[in-house]
Amino acid sequence: MHLTRRRFVQSILGATAAAGLPFTFSSCAGSSKAGTNPALVSTPQFNPSVDIPFPKGFFWGAATSAYQIEGAWKEDGKGESIWDRFTHTPGKIKNGDTGDVACESYHRWRDDLALMRAMNLSSYRFSISWPRIQPSGSGPVNAKGMDYYSRLVDALLEAHIRPLVTLYHWDLPQALEDAGGWPNRDLAAHFADYVQVVAQSLGDRVSDWILFNEPDAFLDLGYLEGTHAPGRKSLLDFLRGTHVVNLAQGAGFRAIKAIRPNCRIGIAPSMSPCDPATDSEADKLAADRAHGVMNTLFLDPALRGRYPDALTFLPNRTMGIKPGDMEKTRVPLDFIGINLYYRVIASSPGVIERATHLQDWLFPVKMDGGQQGPKTDIGWEVWPKALYDMVTRITREYNRPAIEITESGCAYNDGPDSSGVIHDTRRTTYHREYLAALAQSMSEGADVRSYHVWSLMDNFEWAEGYSQRFGLAYVDYKTQQRTIKDSGRWYADVASRNVLPASL
Ligand code: FCB
Repeated sequence: MHLTRRRFVQSILGATAAAGLPFTFSSCAGSSKAGTNPALVSTPQFNPSVDIPFPKGFFWGAATSAYQIEGAWKEDGKGESIWDRFTHTPGKIKNGDTGDVACESYHRWRDDLALMRAMNLSSYRFSISWPRIQPSGSGPVNAKGMDYYSRLVDALLEAHIRPLVTLYHWDLPQALEDAGGWPNRDLAAHFADYVQVVAQSLGDRVSDWILFNEPDAFLDLGYLEGTHAPGRKSLLDFLRGTHVVNLAQGAGFRAIKAIRPNCRIGIAPSMSPCDPATDSEADKLAADRAHGVMNTLFLDPALRGRYPDALTFLPNRTMGIKPGDMEKTRVPLDFIGINLYYRVIASSPGVIERATHLQDWLFPVKMDGGQQGPKTDIGWEVWPKALYDMVTRITREYNRPAIEITESGCAYNDGPDSSGVIHDTRRTTYHREYLAALAQSMSEGADVRSYHVWSLMDNFEWAEGYSQRFGLAYVDYKTQQRTIKDSGRWYADVASRNVLPASL
């Protein structure tokens, strides 16, 4: 199986970037090799030629996560997380970076709020650090940790910014990893307990919740590839962990609804449209499988009470599925969150790969990034149509659900010029085109409620450390000063007018 964006990033680095952005909801044919799927050899761009109004009440947001911004890794009673342990292990993170300090948001959250106000945001997606709330993963609540989030929520509401709270954005308490981590079935109950204490404290003010951020990514990178915390490399752990997280989703959903029946709960998987590399039947089948692994592995157990069709060949015993489990995973999510950055091109591994790699035999799918669009500094292809394709497919296949775009963004490492201004035109172009693609899907009937830029400000980008800047605001890590980039000013204007303007 080749399912990680970060893994396929390796293969697309160094590829030629295509230029040219001049089309309005149209496409520009490129060269093609024989048999290649014609839909792939073009660079469709979404460049609005007229102002595009968004629906009243549409949420203009930005997203962050606790480990990536908070710092204060062992203050006020916080317990150790798997990311603390992983980043403190030599050789795991680029330049030996850690999130010990990050953007110091634990202390500087008022500065963050000032950025949000200046950008006219109406929604802020942030995550809660489980080990701040329950330092050893279960048991008594650390009141100081909870107070931090409680103050933040109050301040957001006062500023008329909706708190969209992610309950798990990858920082598992280390004590629970020591007890077996996500492959251990007990974690579903621990997660539900944690979620319950958070909902008890914040549920009177927070009405929008995300249970998990990108479960596909943290299980793949953390338990199969070993490039993220906790750094395991085991197919079995990945499969078992997948099922336990699905059980935890169900248990967490019910725990919150028992306290706050009217709140809205969703998940935020990382999604990418998966196009077959050629018209061959084998590649089309691979694309179906890729869609199942990438996009619906955590949606189908919740919304349909089963694993995606393309994966049902996996034995229950291997996944750790027990009788009655699929009733437990099934919950009527109130919205589907979509984190989307790029597209995936799927193909079928060759006979030799299948014969020599267990993963390629079990999951006969190769996933690569596209090669036609320009690349961001982290090497991901810019492909606005990916957002259009994904949103329209989810709309079609899940009976027009409410959708929140929970993350989209780009790493461009532009810094301040001599007068301190950050001219990150490429970031503005990225969001402009992705938003135009989103607007197109909405004009065709998709029920999209929000768009959250990843990220509010530059921050700790996991295994890449501080080498990749995704923010609408620049962070000077020496002084912790935040400066709104040109893209942030542009976004502020879009948010205040509720209109995507035709010209920059
Ligand atoms: C997403 C993660 C987020 C950040 C962005 C760039 O996959 O959810 O934390 O790393 O990618």
